[in-house]
Amino acid sequence: MTEQEFIPKPYKKTIESGSVTWESPSNIALVKYWGKKENQIPANPSISFTLSGCKTITRLSYSPKESPDDFSFEVFLEGEIKPDFKPKIETFFKRIVQYVPFIKDYHFKIETSNTFPHSSGIASSASGMSALALCLMSVEKELKGDKFETCFTQKASFLARLGSGSACRSIEGDLVVWGTHQEIENSSDLFGVKYPFEVHNNFKNYQDTILLVDKGEKQVSSTVGHGLMHNHPFAGERFKQAHENLAALINIFKTGNLEAFIDIVESEALTLHAMMMTSMPYFVLMKPNTLEIINKIWAFRKETDSKLCFTLDAGANVHLLYPEKETVLVSEFIKNELVAHCQNGQYICDQIGFGANKIV
Ligand code: DP6
Repeated sequence: MTEQEFIPKPYKKTIESGSVTWESPSNIALVKYWGKKENQIPANPSISFTLSGCKTITRLSYSPKESPDDFSFEVFLEGEIKPDFKPKIETFFKRIVQYVPFIKDYHFKIETSNTFPHSSGIASSASGMSALALCLMSVEKELKGDKFETCFTQKASFLARLGSGSACRSIEGDLVVWGTHQEIENSSDLFGVKYPFEVHNNFKNYQDTILLVDKGEKQVSSTVGHGLMHNHPFAGERFKQAHENLAALINIFKTGNLEAFIDIVESEALTLHAMMMTSMPYFVLMKPNTLEIINKIWAFRKETDSKLCFTLDAGANVHLLYPEKETVLVSEFIKNELVAHCQNGQYICDQIGFGANKIV
């Protein structure tokens, strides 16, 4: 697929006012996307678990407008108007207008809410941008008069990527690859694809408990962090390592080798943060409690037979990943040892999910 193939033929139909609602989940990367080229093309392939409970619900209402000059829209979060969300959506619309030209012909009301607290430090851009991309795809489907959803999912992922890279991995589940990898046929830099190979039962219903360590605003946004991978002294090696780690995961998913899984996932998390600490300017997003938790996880693994491991995104929060059968053991461990390191004792229990759903 090339970018050109996502440019639609002239629409067959015209539609009046209406609305559509989608819910779309967050995802957690196992091999991380960190560094990008022009047009949201990733510097390396990544793979993620789609989550189930952490999601954004977006209702997009549309009505035809007079002049197709500018974009016209307003955004609401939990019923409250959010002018500060507009620039990111304006940028998104500019990036996608050639692929969904109808967006200049309508006024949009975007009403969104999250199942997780907005200030939790959980990235809402993946779930938010994917939900919005899906809503736009539903409008386009009406305009095309398509009965069959040819390429619907692929184009939704393609659009979501232009909103926020990691959002392209939220459309489907339960494991999604984004970025061209030589061992994964049909993998693409343009959109996420479902992981195509065998996955051992050990990974079915994998659990993700998110420990909320720091709910404050991040000092450095992901977008700025990605930019710092240009001219980064270790960038080349890092991008190569991501390819190798993804290749290694293929056999790990097949055999269910949880020890090897832990090695890759934890190394990826720490490498991501190592890239931040070694960029110029350098920055640290981990907090003392992030490290306390990591050390306790390692001690816990030594004491028990547990296959609990951690991963991090671009923040201080810790994602605990573990097999479903360890739910009781790990939840005791969280309550006894880890909750003390969470801000206001807060954490969110989630698990692998299967992607976005259309509500109405
Ligand atoms: C650390 O997708 O938020 O979570 O494309 O600039 O919107 P933009 O970045 P974003 O970056 C996410 C980075 C990450 C790793 C990952 O999810 O792969």
